[in-house]
Amino acid sequence: MYTILTQPSAAPVIQSLRNIGYKAQTAIADIVDNGIDAEATDIHITFKYDNGNGYIKIQDNGKGMTDKELQIAMTIGSKDPREERKQHELGRFGMGLKTGSFSLGQRLSVLTKIDGVISERCWDLEYVSTHNEWYLFKEIPSEVKWKMGTIDSDNGTIVFIDKLDRFCGYGTEKIIQLSSYYAKVARIRKFLEMVFQVKLDNGLNIYINDNFLDSWDPFLCEHPKTLEGETQIIKVNRKRVKITPYVLPHPSTFNETEYKIAGGIKGWRDQQGFYIYREGRLVNFGDWFGLFTKDSFSELVRIKIDFTNNADDDWKIDIKKSSVSIPEDAKENLKAIGKYYRQVSKEIMLYRAKPSRTQSKMKGSLHTWELANDEADSPYLLNRNHSILTNILKDIDEDMRRKFNLYLKLVELGSPNNLLHSSSLVKKEKQVQEVDEKIKYYIIELSKTLIDSNEIIILEEIVDAISLFPGFESVERTTIKNILEKDVLVNER
Ligand SMILES: Nc1ncnc2c1ncn2[C@@H]1O[C@H](COP(=O)(O)OP(=O)(O)OP(=O)(O)O)[C@@H](O)[C@H]1O
Ligand SMILES: [Mg+2]
Repeated sequence: MYTILTQPSAAPVIQSLRNIGYKAQTAIADIVDNGIDAEATDIHITFKYDNGNGYIKIQDNGKGMTDKELQIAMTIGSKDPREERKQHELGRFGMGLKTGSFSLGQRLSVLTKIDGVISERCWDLEYVSTHNEWYLFKEIPSEVKWKMGTIDSDNGTIVFIDKLDRFCGYGTEKIIQLSSYYAKVARIRKFLEMVFQVKLDNGLNIYINDNFLDSWDPFLCEHPKTLEGETQIIKVNRKRVKITPYVLPHPSTFNETEYKIAGGIKGWRDQQGFYIYREGRLVNFGDWFGLFTKDSFSELVRIKIDFTNNADDDWKIDIKKSSVSIPEDAKENLKAIGKYYRQVSKEIMLYRAKPSRTQSKMKGSLHTWELANDEADSPYLLNRNHSILTNILKDIDEDMRRKFNLYLKLVELGSPNNLLHSSSLVKKEKQVQEVDEKIKYYIIELSKTLIDSNEIIILEEIVDAISLFPGFESVERTTIKNILEKDVLVNER
């Protein structure tokens, strides 16, 4: 069979690669990954503003590369993603160094040293685009080199990116303001403190402009009130996945600063969900992956999931190492775990006593509200045994007690939380419904009160009023009318 060798055009390919959706923070993390794979213990990241003319430099003290290795490393697609990677290796696609760098700027220079031997290469996208060929510079231009500094020990690598058009508007009219530049660097710092937390806690040092990065633990393991659920190991396609659920302490246990820090980059509500780690490096965080929706009662739940690089295919890790999808085989387990811990979170958020689960010492009798049942969408009931309420009821006469109880019932039915379950707002379809005896009783009592107080006396208006009353929305007008005609108006006549 005849074939025609068809090489991709350099200029369009390289320009497209710049647009695969990296954010600055994911691009930097991808380059840091390489330092970790090279067994570095210190990674120094330098951001230089210089009115948009600056650079980003990532220097590690890892093992470095030989000239041949560097040449391969600078090649787009330097390794086959199907190749088995070493245990714990973070690399997968043979792309990160290039794609990450190009998403920030147009020039990537790498200087590396292995056992005292230095090698260097440089990609300049302007040059590649102009010639529409994959021309890689064997030497780093001198105007860059003097800014890069040196590798003082025998091993290490400097990745240097300049012409930062994407990062700070180099060469455009929209050069980023210094204050926004600092804010951007601060965000990157926070992101790295979260993504590399496990590595930072295990001997890796990362610095940004000489400032040491502190690890940020999304699970607040050190906090005495954090609940750590039992770790479970499940097998997905015969590969181990480790799951550890955490429920964070109630917000009232923090002071303002602690609360803000614990909220993380996205804030409490959006940080809830699964945290997916690949080889101890966070890939995806604060996401329920469509298994649940985010709500404020569940915001204390963060579930750690750890998979290994031989399961990359199952989790469909993307080139940027910033997203995965949950394998079908894992969904059921994760859903069950998520459901359980979301319920625990809900109980803690509402100070609900459940000593067996939360070890909380709250006194049940002091709650004003309680869940009717253990289901996730359970309605709330007023605690009728509350000591203040029982005292009030004791001191008032029969008629007043009846009215007061009716009022409490209306408060209960119309509580904003109960009304949030929109299914209860929809009218049932049957013309004449079977209604719960209790609801029927309250419809009768309510209409009597409306009539007694001369608020409304026309039947149709009473029906309208009740059908729109919070808590009675699901009852059909015809049904209300039937009840009123049978049980109220007859008696009234
Ligand atoms: N700082 C470094 N120190 C030593 N070797 C490095 C360094 N950076 C890159 N390399 C080498 O270059 C290769 C290519 O890096 P690149 O980030 O492009 O791809 P990768 O890490 O293999 O896969 P991925 O695209 O998933 O990151 C690496 O596999 C590694 O061998
Ligand atoms: Mg890499």
